[in-house]
Amino acid sequence: MTKIGIFYGSTSGVTEEIAEKIRDEIGEDNCDLYSMEEDFDDVDDLLKYDYLLLGCSTWGAGEVQNDWREPLFDMEVEKPDFSGKTIALFGPGDCQGHSKHFVGALGLLYDQFKALGATLVGAVSTEDYTFEKSTAIRDGKFVGLPLDEVNESDKTDQRIADWLALLKADFPAIAA
Ligand SMILES: Cc1cc2nc3c(=O)[nH]c(=O)nc-3n(C[C@H](O)[C@H](O)[C@H](O)COP(=O)(O)O)c2cc1C
Repeated sequence: MTKIGIFYGSTSGVTEEIAEKIRDEIGEDNCDLYSMEEDFDDVDDLLKYDYLLLGCSTWGAGEVQNDWREPLFDMEVEKPDFSGKTIALFGPGDCQGHSKHFVGALGLLYDQFKALGATLVGAVSTEDYTFEKSTAIRDGKFVGLPLDEVNESDKTDQRIADWLALLKADFPAIAA
C-alpha cells in the first residue's frame, strides 16, 4: 500500500497542527492521520503501512513526547519487523530554550525504528538551525525534519514544503 500513515504525539497541540499541515499538503486521499493519544491501539496500526511519517515533539531533556513512550517501550520488547518500511520523522522543539537538547526525540525514534529494520529517509541539513547540541544528528544531518514554533514559526511552511519535495523520491504517494 503506497498510502502514507502519519502518526503524531503532541502535548500542547503543536505537532498536531504540523501533522495536519503535512496531511493537507499530501492530500487526504493519500494518507491517514493518527493521533498517538486518541487513535493508536497497537503496533499493528503502524505495520498496516509501508510508508510512514512519524511526528514527535521533544520534552524533558531530549525525551520523546508522552504518547510515544509506551508504544516505543512495547516495540522495544516485542521487536516487530519494520523491514521494507520507509519512515521519515518530523518534530518541533525549541532551539533557544532547549538549545542543548534540540529535537532529541527524533534521534530516539530514529535509533529505535532503524534497529527494527526500517529504512529511514528525509534527513535535513543542520545549516538553517541555531542550537548548542542535539542527539538527533547522524552523519552530520538531522535524522528528520526539525521545526521550531517557539522561535522560528515563520520558517515552518517553507521547511515543510522543502522536506516534502525531498521525500518525493521515496514516497510514491507524495510524488503522485
Ligand atoms: C518542559 C518542556 C521541556 C521541553 N524540552 C525540550 C527539549 O528537550 N528539546 C527541545 O527541542 N524542545 C523542548 N521543549 C519544546 C517543545 O518540544 C515545543 O514546545 C513543542 O512545540 C511542543 O510540541 P507539542 O505541543 O506538539 O508537544 C520543551 C518544552 C517544555 C515546556
